[in-house]
Amino acid sequence: MDVKDAIERRRAYRSLDHIDISEDLIKDLAKVAQIAPSCANKQPWRLIFVYEEQELRKLFKILSSGNKWVKNASMLIAVFSKPEHDCIIGERKYYLFDTGMATAFIILRATELGLVAHPIAGFKEEKAKNLLNIPLDMRLITLITIGKHSKEVNPVLSESMKLGEKQRPPRISLEKFVYLNKYN
Ligand SMILES: Cc1cc2nc3c(=O)[nH]c(=O)nc-3n(C[C@H](O)[C@H](O)[C@H](O)COP(=O)(O)O)c2cc1C
Repeated sequence: MDVKDAIERRRAYRSLDHIDISEDLIKDLAKVAQIAPSCANKQPWRLIFVYEEQELRKLFKILSSGNKWVKNASMLIAVFSKPEHDCIIGERKYYLFDTGMATAFIILRATELGLVAHPIAGFKEEKAKNLLNIPLDMRLITLITIGKHSKEVNPVLSESMKLGEKQRPPRISLEKFVYLNKYN
């Protein structure tokens, strides 16, 4: 699969089947994050690969109500960082940007491997950090939900989420975010 293919195939699916999590898979995903670019090569991202059933079950309890579908995850990757782990140039704090790029690499690689890697923001951060032993001064930015896309639509999904399984949610047109030479 080439990069464009992976970008186009990637979807935030919410109907998931179980997959077995291997050490090889974890290493593979960690290694693509490792070579992501970052400001002054600061590599601000920190990752916890959570796959033990009993640990997953604890995390399933701190999800937002719209994220019941996450309970079919075979693994959650907790992605966290803090501003001091990366460049701070005036008002520009690069830790979220660089961690986002590493996250995108993980998502695309998982897509190439035929998996679903769906990042979520809908969880109680403090409680999740507590469960995962993440220090208070770090931001738990996302949990990447890992599984395999199921042909059966998950019955817990809302109608709009069910529609999202069939087609990609609409995007704003290029005219609304692309400018040539100057803004506006
Ligand atoms: C930072 C971030 C947070 C997200 N949080 C959630 C979430 O909590 N629950 C959810 O169902 N989807 C979540 N999504 C998925 C988006 O809703 C999805 O990417 C968007 O609707 C576009 O669909 P597509 O990724 O399939 O193209 C999140 C995506 C991102 C990037």
